[in-house]
This record gives sequence, structure tokens and C-alpha cells, in this order.
Amino acid sequence: MTIQEILLQHEPEKKNILPAIKAINQNLSWVSEEAIGKIARYFGESEAYIFSVASFYDEINFNKPALLTLEICDGANCQIKDSDNIIKNVETFFKIKVDSFNNQFVLKRMSCVGRCLEGPVVKINGTIYTKMTTDKVIELIQNYLGY
Ligand code: FES
Repeated sequence: MTIQEILLQHEPEKKNILPAIKAINQNLSWVSEEAIGKIARYFGESEAYIFSVASFYDEINFNKPALLTLEICDGANCQIKDSDNIIKNVETFFKIKVDSFNNQFVLKRMSCVGRCLEGPVVKINGTIYTKMTTDKVIELIQNYLGY
């Protein structure tokens, strides 16, 4: 569903501004600058006004959602197999820190997922990969991101 399609579901009356913002946030997972501009034009208000309404609510996301989530197991068995080093190398290579995102992906540590004999284990968007090395993880991420 596009921003315009969502807007057209709301009468262009001031009382519908917030419902429209929430609907865009829910459908597109964020409210971009482009969306703020379109909302402003649709409702005949300034972009500053639309942003002030939207920013009042914590639930509205103004950051482009990450394309993928990378989780690296930091359970004891994966740590023995060098998962901490993989985390450090991924942080350095992609200039990202654990529990942050760089507009392309989120990097997290995860608890043991029971695949200890096949470690180090990583999960990308819910898919588990085993016997990982730094090079393999970097290659997987690049493939996911279409490098
Ligand atoms: S410690 Fe990593 S899967 Fe168990």
C-alpha cells in the first residue's frame, strides 16, 4: 500500500491527521520525510505541524527500518568457537555496534539456540546458519543486502 492510498482512506480533515500518520507508520513501518510532505499537502498543513503531531507519539518511527537482523550466538559453546571475534570483526567491517543499526541491518547477540555442536551459530532474519566464520558472515550479509 502506498502513502497516497493510505491517505485516500482518510477524509482530509484535521481530526484525521493523526489516524493517517498512524496508518502510514503501521503499514510502512515508518514515517519518512516524503510521507510527512505528502501528509502536509493532503491535509493543507505545514510539514512542521505534521511533524509536531507525529513526533508527540513514541510509537511513530522516523528511521528507515533495517533490511535485516543479524544475531550472533554468544552462548558458551559458540564463544569457545570464536563467536566473540566474529562479532568484533563484523562491528569493524560494517562500522556498527551490537544493539545498534546502520540503516541496513541490526546487530545483536543472541542466547544459545541449541545448535552448539555446529557453532558458531548466527541467525539472519530468523534463518539459522552454522559453522560460521567472519568471512562467511560478511559474505552472507553482503548477499542479503545485494552488494
Ligand atoms: S552456544 Fe551457540 S548454539 Fe549453543
